Amino acid sequence: MRRLRRLARLGLERTESLFDAAFTPAWNPLYHLGALGWFFYWIVIVSGIYLFIFFDTGIEQAYQSVETLTHAQWYAGGVMRSLHRYASDALVIVVLIHILREFVLDRLRGPLWFAWVTGVPVLWLIFAAGLSGYWVIWDRLAQYVAIATSEWLDTLPFFGEPIARNFLHETTLSGRFFTLMVFIHIAVPLFMLLLMWIHIHRHTRPRVNPPAGLAAGTLLALLALSLWQPALSQGPADLGTVPTPVEVDWFYLGVLPLADHVSGLWLWIGVAGVTVALIALPWLPPGKTQAAAEVDLENCNGCARCAADCPFGAITMGARTDGRPFPQQAVVDPGLCTSCGICTGSCPTATPFRRRSALVAGIQLPRVPVSVLRDRCLKLSQTLEGNDRVMVLGCEHGVAVDNLVDKSTAVISIPCAGMLPPPFLDFLLSRRLVDGIVMTGCRMGDCHFRKGIEWTEERISGKRDPYLRERVPRERLVRCWAGIDRGEHLREAIASLRKRLHEQSSHRPN
Ligand code: HEM
Ligand code: SF4
Ligand code: SF4
Repeated sequence: MRRLRRLARLGLERTESLFDAAFTPAWNPLYHLGALGWFFYWIVIVSGIYLFIFFDTGIEQAYQSVETLTHAQWYAGGVMRSLHRYASDALVIVVLIHILREFVLDRLRGPLWFAWVTGVPVLWLIFAAGLSGYWVIWDRLAQYVAIATSEWLDTLPFFGEPIARNFLHETTLSGRFFTLMVFIHIAVPLFMLLLMWIHIHRHTRPRVNPPAGLAAGTLLALLALSLWQPALSQGPADLGTVPTPVEVDWFYLGVLPLADHVSGLWLWIGVAGVTVALIALPWLPPGKTQAAAEVDLENCNGCARCAADCPFGAITMGARTDGRPFPQQAVVDPGLCTSCGICTGSCPTATPFRRRSALVAGIQLPRVPVSVLRDRCLKLSQTLEGNDRVMVLGCEHGVAVDNLVDKSTAVISIPCAGMLPPPFLDFLLSRRLVDGIVMTGCRMGDCHFRKGIEWTEERISGKRDPYLRERVPRERLVRCWAGIDRGEHLREAIASLRKRLHEQSSHRPN
């Protein structure tokens, strides 16, 4: 399973590399799938409100009102209708890739189970909203969808009267039933919004807006598609005939032709099976739980930097419990902590320069205490030879670094690049323990722990505390956010740093 997931991840990263080349990493849609989901959702809502203003909810009038909107007002109502349809399709596409991606990257275990499990009902609600949307136009496709879905619903033993009976004849379809369908089509997306909010509410600063360029480009593409291939109806519904729709929207209605061949009950069993499997996934092997970060009150001065930097809202600032003269202290909720270590990277007490015999940070991971990190840096640096000694500090989720070791290269693996407190970089270079440092990890724009790369970059460039002191020569520090498929990229980065180190040492006065 591990091997399979690694292969899938390699495939994913290769595809992402192609997208990086086409869109640049900053605008790569694959790094903004959740945010694009929100963006498409809002387009659907805004265009839906416009359509509703002109929509007539009567059985006879519904079709005609949509036709008038589409043709007499093609430049506004027609475009809005097409935007409504195409943004809904785009929502399905990005959400399906979003699920696949989170699964392949294994971002569903531990505390992330919450985002995963709350995503599952959102997925089904998207389909429910789409299906009900096709009913309310009341064209021949709507008739097909209405009959197929109600026959499917009738296989459940919940309804006293078969719903499909409504579609036997024009006289049996009541206006009240039709209005109920319109109501469902409006209520489901609103309920979805609530669940979407719950879905991300454990994330600190969730990315719900794509970058402006990506948003503008996507909207323009949807507009162009709307003008080129406007969404049209397929002739008025006629309950006196058996509908055979010309075109089916496969994103939403793909399951319906299946209903012609498989019994409705089996389809329900399929849906229930997929739901249970999805919900169980976060707890299925192979899974490993890492211990949560721990606060050491002796070393916590209550500065709250860790709480500001934790990407998963696992730290709150609470009243002091040890009587020391600070107003607050950090408190970790182990149920929310993903063991990324980013809080250690932000703690001002996590500095290897401290002269205490036992170095303990205010907050740290039991599996990588900063004292162990410092000892490893000291020990490995002593094994290096030459005047181009390089230390590679690699995040566990990036390219494998173990095979880079040689007489002048040492490697240290850490849970996340953001876990490394900047004073460690200063320590390594100012104490001349090494001549150069390469930091590596996930790809730019897609940190496994959301904020590790962003905070590291901001700390190094002095925009975020604790920042890297100015005296640290930046030309000796390389960051290579490679992902797992760009080992070559990392090797090149190390080679070019080495070249620079050689040039510098040849110019250095003896
Ligand atoms: C309309 C549908 C959805 C939208 C708009 C959406 C949006 C988002 C957003 C904005 C994030 C936070 C990204 C960040 O700031 O790092 C997120 C995270 C996540 N989503 Fe969704 N999502 C949707 C559906 C789903 C579904 C159906 C699943 C899975 C069944 C899912 C699984 C996850 C997981 C596991 C995360 C956490 C990833 C992490 O923190 O590393 N989402 N989603
Ligand atoms: S960053 Fe360190 S010192 Fe500041 S509140 Fe968190 S644990 Fe305490
Ligand atoms: S290890 Fe990561 S998730 Fe846990 S408290 Fe620290 S920053 Fe938050």
